Amino acid sequence: MACVRQFLCFLLIILMTPLLTTFAAATSNISLPGCPNKCGSILIPYPFGMGNGCDRKGFEITCDESMTHPRAILFRDVHPSMDVELINVNITTGEARVYNKNISYKCFDVTNSNFNISMGITGLPWRFPFSYEQNKFLAIGCSTLAFIVSYRNDNYFSGCVSTCFSPNSTTGDGGSCNGMGCCQAAIPSDLYFYAVYWHDNPNYAGGFNLCSYAVLVEDDWYKFQDQDLQGLNFYKRNKNGVPVVLNWAIRDNGTCQDGLMKSHNTACRSNHSFCYSTSNGKGYLCQCRQGYEGNPYLTGGCIDIDECKSLDKYPCSSNAICINSDGNFTCSCPKGTYGNPYVNDGNCIKIPEKFSYHGRVVLASILGVATILILVILAVMYVQRKKRMEEKEEYQKYYQMMNDHLRVFSRKQLENATNNFNETNVFGAGGQGKVYKGLLENNLVIAIKKARAVEETQREEFVNEIILLSQINHKNIVRLLGCCLEVNIPMLVYEFVPNGTVYQLLHRNKTIPISLGTRLNIAWESAVALDYIHSSISRSIIHGDIKSANILLDADYTVKVSDFGASSVVPVDEIIELVHFSQGYLDPECLYTQIITNNSDVYSFGVVILELLTRKEAVYLDKKGEKQALATSFLSKARTNEHHKMLDVDLLSNNGKVIEILDKICAIASQCLSPKGDDRPTMSQIVEELQKLARLHNSTLGF
Ligand SMILES: *[C@@H]1O[C@H](CO)[C@@H](O)[C@H](O)[C@H]1NC(C)=O
Ligand SMILES: *[C@@H]1O[C@H](CO)[C@@H](O)[C@H](O)[C@H]1NC(C)=O
Ligand SMILES: *[C@@H]1O[C@H](CO)[C@@H](O)[C@H](O)[C@H]1NC(C)=O
Ligand SMILES: *[C@@H]1O[C@H](CO)[C@@H](O)[C@H](O)[C@H]1NC(C)=O
Ligand SMILES: *[C@@H]1O[C@H](CO)[C@@H](O)[C@H](O)[C@H]1NC(C)=O
Ligand SMILES: *[C@@H]1O[C@H](CO)[C@@H](O)[C@H](O)[C@H]1NC(C)=O
Ligand SMILES: *[C@@H]1O[C@H](CO)[C@@H](O)[C@H](O)[C@H]1NC(C)=O
Ligand SMILES: *[C@@H]1O[C@H](CO)[C@@H](O)[C@H](O)[C@H]1NC(C)=O
Repeated sequence: MACVRQFLCFLLIILMTPLLTTFAAATSNISLPGCPNKCGSILIPYPFGMGNGCDRKGFEITCDESMTHPRAILFRDVHPSMDVELINVNITTGEARVYNKNISYKCFDVTNSNFNISMGITGLPWRFPFSYEQNKFLAIGCSTLAFIVSYRNDNYFSGCVSTCFSPNSTTGDGGSCNGMGCCQAAIPSDLYFYAVYWHDNPNYAGGFNLCSYAVLVEDDWYKFQDQDLQGLNFYKRNKNGVPVVLNWAIRDNGTCQDGLMKSHNTACRSNHSFCYSTSNGKGYLCQCRQGYEGNPYLTGGCIDIDECKSLDKYPCSSNAICINSDGNFTCSCPKGTYGNPYVNDGNCIKIPEKFSYHGRVVLASILGVATILILVILAVMYVQRKKRMEEKEEYQKYYQMMNDHLRVFSRKQLENATNNFNETNVFGAGGQGKVYKGLLENNLVIAIKKARAVEETQREEFVNEIILLSQINHKNIVRLLGCCLEVNIPMLVYEFVPNGTVYQLLHRNKTIPISLGTRLNIAWESAVALDYIHSSISRSIIHGDIKSANILLDADYTVKVSDFGASSVVPVDEIIELVHFSQGYLDPECLYTQIITNNSDVYSFGVVILELLTRKEAVYLDKKGEKQALATSFLSKARTNEHHKMLDVDLLSNNGKVIEILDKICAIASQCLSPKGDDRPTMSQIVEELQKLARLHNSTLGF
């Protein structure tokens, strides 16, 4: 029994839930918490408000309940004579509809042919301009010429004429105001204040029309009636005023720039709101973002629209699954159906389970498509195979070209030499990839390195470059022995240099002292290699990636510069990236010219000299743990003649000759690091200087 009752209760809750939530959604607050949101039947949304602290400054409304029905009064805070009665407020459009009681009239007195006139100066306290889109200046009468004049708006002056010679020559009941019984004229923007003037016309249209009227009124509100031409009918009928639309907006210091609020004192308090500038008068309005509705002027005022509950505005098929989310919704066909769910009338169609006629058609088309797909794949494979054959033939051609000049290794040979490119054979890794140590059958030790991927158009160029590099035969340059072309990315085979790099020598174990002589020798031999490559070959080759890690040392500490021609075998932008990788060596001039020159090598070489002198890395951590570029900090110290403090303590000595040598090397380094490439010495000049210093060193210290 209890069980059944519980079940009924449960059922009741389930049935009630949608009702409860609908109710909650319909009554979201429009006013500040604790403030009345209605005056009589008129809704008062914030920024409008009644009572202390309920409105934003300038939007105060007084609810006058002294009459039979409560009236919402605007501008009472300015002066009681400014009272304007509110009809309604629209928070989305920034419009307020109010009663305009100042209907101007001009009435003839038949007996003495005098006339009474009301000029009707109408002005609002400069807060809300009349809407130029929603209002028209209206005049009614049969011998009527009325003007609207605004002194503020460049003396704006506009009017209209209405004439009728007999009661049945008017536009007729419900007709448009085209000048027969009534006429209308547009008004300008920024109109806060206007006066009505009558043409001083003593003629009147016989006895049937004694009074003419003129008023600013909401467009489309007035429908002409013949009886309005008689007596004071129109005036009496609209004693309470006629509707006119005002444009309200937030007009304080905060400015709005198309959605971005420049002031944190924004009136758009809701998180899901934005602002936009108004076209009538300076100021801005707020609006809820798409998917939200409510009052953007209130904190938390914009509330997610539950689109699934208003399918008339947000279509979603009744047999689809509608899921509301914050600011959006999704509508999808359930499993087993297909179609466009964003349509209201059952657009998710069941996919047939059995192979009905329909199903067979679908299956047949699927099979058809699959067959075509397979054919396409076969065709692509054929084309690729053909291309590969062509490539192979092309390789044969280049193989021949290369084989005449250097050794071309097969892939198999290199695999055998490196134990299938085993990780244990990796002995170095740079920006370009891994370097493998290998052992050929004749016990020759080699180093294998990947070149860059070569594009077809550049293949010949590449091959020529490799041939050129292989012709370099210098004792201070790592020799390129050969190449393997059989793989997509060609491999370069070099002689193996056993004793590590200058980088390792300088930075690995700083407790091992290195003599000035050794350092001078490394600098000199490196310079010799660079000079040779820059100047003594048929065509100058730029190294492009000089750094201590690219200067190798042979068994007897003979220098072997490696990685020559990086600039020609690797594209320039890649180098800049790569050299960025080996930070601290990049010629700053390169960064904007994007061209690598001999001078760039000289700059990088300058950094290597500094490394030799200071045993600091090109980018090192200073005592505070901050990253410093060696070149920059050295140059700035040199400017105040404090650069000696950066030198390796092992080098410091009281010997006058040593001091002279160190001074001169520092000077060379400084010249190499000149910001302008053209100010730097050439490699030949550097070789000459270093050679002199080496000789001086050897003669005085008997090296
Ligand atoms: C505002 O709404 C909440 C719930 O939506 C309600 O509890 C509260 O009384 C409302 N406040 C006013 C002033 O209407
Ligand atoms: C405000 O104006 C818009 C556009 O004319 C209209 O869709 C909306 O219903 C109006 N809102 C109120 C509360 O009158
Ligand atoms: C003009 O005004 C006077 C005094 O206010 C009034 O007696 C007279 O009836 C008015 N005439 C017309 C035609 O309204
Ligand atoms: C209507 O006209 C009267 C007299 O010209 C003026 O005192 C009053 O301020 C006007 N009312 C409005 C709302 O402009
Ligand atoms: C105006 O209508 C009256 C009847 O209502 C008719 O007698 C008269 O001839 C009409 N006048 C004109 C100018 O059409
Ligand atoms: C407008 O600016 C003035 C001075 O810059 C400031 O005193 C005042 O509070 C500001 N008003 C608003 C509504 O931000
Ligand atoms: C509005 O956003 C702020 C910051 O993103 C957040 O702290 C606050 O809770 C949000 N308020 C509402 C009503 O969602
Ligand atoms: C709502 O979601 C749809 C698809 O999920 C997306 O295309 C659309 O931009 C979203 N709308 C908003 C306002 O986020």
